[in-house]
Amino acid sequence: MRHIPVMPLETLQYLINKPDGLYVDCTFGDGGHTSYLLDKFKDVKIVAFDWDEDSLKRFVEKEKEFGERVIFVRNNFKNIKEALSNVNVNSVDGILADIGVSSKQFDDLDRGFSFNSNILDMRMDRRNNLTAKEVVNSYSYEDLADIFYKYGEEYKSRQIASAILLRRKRGIINTASELQTVICSVKRREGKVSPATKVFQALRIFINDELKNLETLLRVAPELLNAGGRTVIISFHSLEDRIVKLNFKQNSECGIYKILTKKVVTALKEEVKINPRSRSAKIRAAEKISV
Ligand SMILES: C[S@@+](CC[C@H](N)C(=O)[O-])C[C@H]1O[C@@H](n2cnc3c(N)ncnc32)[C@H](O)[C@@H]1O
Repeated sequence: MRHIPVMPLETLQYLINKPDGLYVDCTFGDGGHTSYLLDKFKDVKIVAFDWDEDSLKRFVEKEKEFGERVIFVRNNFKNIKEALSNVNVNSVDGILADIGVSSKQFDDLDRGFSFNSNILDMRMDRRNNLTAKEVVNSYSYEDLADIFYKYGEEYKSRQIASAILLRRKRGIINTASELQTVICSVKRREGKVSPATKVFQALRIFINDELKNLETLLRVAPELLNAGGRTVIISFHSLEDRIVKLNFKQNSECGIYKILTKKVVTALKEEVKINPRSRSAKIRAAEKISV
């Protein structure tokens, strides 16, 4: 499925303070936000990050259309400072991050993000070594339970970890669907959501070190912004949103940021109907104060 950018209009309203500025899209994905931004602001330039080689392929497909207005950097956005300096950029007018996996990554059964995947992988950047298969098949009961609780807020973390260890005695857990079956043996379905959702989320966050990456990005963002430049983060669950909220609050108390979203911004009903993924999206934005 094509990835539909979440809250594109709201994202632009918060991100753009200089119509001919230089911006960073930390999460190029399918290029949805980047394309929208270039289309609405003809003089804007973008440095686009993504660590997934499939995103690089999509960038190459669109390269002609983008012309010289987009530079693509295949790197973890936590390395934003050094990576920007490698392309001779020292400061920018806005930084956007739309955290998490893209619909393309999720739907690709060879990536292991969805319940019916043929494998257990979940790496967004396949140059990294740690896979979900290794974690699920070799981590201790305590470590698994901690991961499920800490990153998935899974209240049955211990029972699920125990079921995994029991299942491991019968052989390796090779696929996401096998893992889902184990989880369903100890947790009943409540409503439409799969009982495996929180464990899958936890594994994905852990494998990709998502919270630390976000924290590092937020820490260096103010150093990279010109006065009046903005940081805009779209997040999809409470752990990420809490990190963003806290960072913006601390930076505003130090006189570095002015918070633009006093209340978190969520998608309108009309958007959720067309793009169900936007249901849990939250935008927070802050502007660097001139000194
Ligand atoms: C939700 S998608 C972004 C979709 C994009 N905004 C669009 O409209 O097409 C998130 C993307 O960010 C990438 N990503 C996630 N964490 C990253 C990180 N730490 N560094 C670089 N890219 C990352 C993923 O590989 C994925 O392609």
